Amino acid sequence: MKALVDGPLPQWLHDGLRHVWQPYTQHQTAPLPAPVVAARESRIQLASGRWLIDGVASWWTAVHGHAHPHLTAAVHAQLDRLPHVMFGSVAHEPASTLACRLAQLLPGDLDHVFFAESGSVSVEVAMKMAVQYHLNQGERRTRFLGFHHGYHGDTLATMSVCDPDRSMHAHFAGFLPAQLHAALPTDSASLTALERLLEAHHTSLAGIMVEPLVQGAGGFRMHGPEALQHLRRLCDRYGLLLIFDEIATGFGRTGSMFACEQAGVVPDILTLSKALTGGVMPLSCAVARTPIFEAFQSQRADHALMHGPTFMANPLACAAANASLDLFETEPRLEQARALEAWFTEDLRGVETMPGVVEVRVKGAVAVIEVEALASQAELMRIGMAQGVWLRPFGGCIYATPPLVLSRAEAGQVAGAMRSMAEACDPARRL
Ligand SMILES: Cc1ncc(COP(=O)(O)O)c(C=O)c1O
Repeated sequence: MKALVDGPLPQWLHDGLRHVWQPYTQHQTAPLPAPVVAARESRIQLASGRWLIDGVASWWTAVHGHAHPHLTAAVHAQLDRLPHVMFGSVAHEPASTLACRLAQLLPGDLDHVFFAESGSVSVEVAMKMAVQYHLNQGERRTRFLGFHHGYHGDTLATMSVCDPDRSMHAHFAGFLPAQLHAALPTDSASLTALERLLEAHHTSLAGIMVEPLVQGAGGFRMHGPEALQHLRRLCDRYGLLLIFDEIATGFGRTGSMFACEQAGVVPDILTLSKALTGGVMPLSCAVARTPIFEAFQSQRADHALMHGPTFMANPLACAAANASLDLFETEPRLEQARALEAWFTEDLRGVETMPGVVEVRVKGAVAVIEVEALASQAELMRIGMAQGVWLRPFGGCIYATPPLVLSRAEAGQVAGAMRSMAEACDPARRL
């Protein structure tokens, strides 16, 4: 089978292929994956010795670049002290400190932090919190409203709130919990349609789930703050919990620490992961407002939230997250995200008129070229690598979510690779 990269491949890659089941991969037709042996600053290194700019910050995680010395030192120090301990009936300093810092950073009374290990699990926890919030008050509201082009994870409950038709999970329809889906209220027609839907169904709904400002893997779409303000108002009107999934948008990605700040909206529950640890360890959390937390206080044991992932609040991951927050205090990360928005906007100018291009979208450190139809993913990735950039287009979009520390020249290199990929998607070329 052809490999994604040229040249000899390490033996461990060939050995592993017999046993490693790759994500999102049709093994029969996909090229062999790229062997990566190291990562530093904004780059990853291939086994051949070549360095590539990590144009997706390893799935939106490495906001400070890779192997930042402050992060690695924090993890090393924690490794010698307390690598892991169960969290049931136990407390430890890295988790306590992190919860306090997150509560301080997040708006309003988003003060109660429940830790998990992956983004999907934190979304599951948020959904469970919302359903039980109502149950504890004697109301059976078990469904959610999600949005077209939404993406919230790959576990069963999270799949059910993803876009049901366009999503990679579409063939599970009918098997997943039945939820409601609507267009985001970005104009008066979609707002009216949403209001009608809620008027008809609100009594069965526990909450509304949305990725604020930028939708990720479901279509890389962007919307303004007004849509989120409408959702807050509608949730208040119908007694629904508003859940912001900030797993992708959190920690500077959209130009502010959290996307909700730009809308001036405080959701009832907010989920975080990806860049929470600066991209070095898996960690996530669902953060609830005080009235939600209080709805679980009672003399009844069954009013408690019965959830506790084995590796929740792993001390190594919490130490990394605390170190990552230090860097947001000491280095100009948010300014860098905003600079990336200006650079990508400048460097992608004119791409929207290229044949086969549907739209160019930029928000903070997220740049997207949507095309009518993508050329083969492997071909596009090879185009990027030939220009020294690691990008992985899919779902009709060529997108970059790089480390926020990219230099001006590196941002130009990423935009240049995106432009070349868009040229390769020209329908005339693909005939
Ligand atoms: C908005 C959003 N929610 C949830 C998830 C799921 O996170 P994880 O892959 O860590 O389970 C993702 C991952 O891409 C995401 O972008």
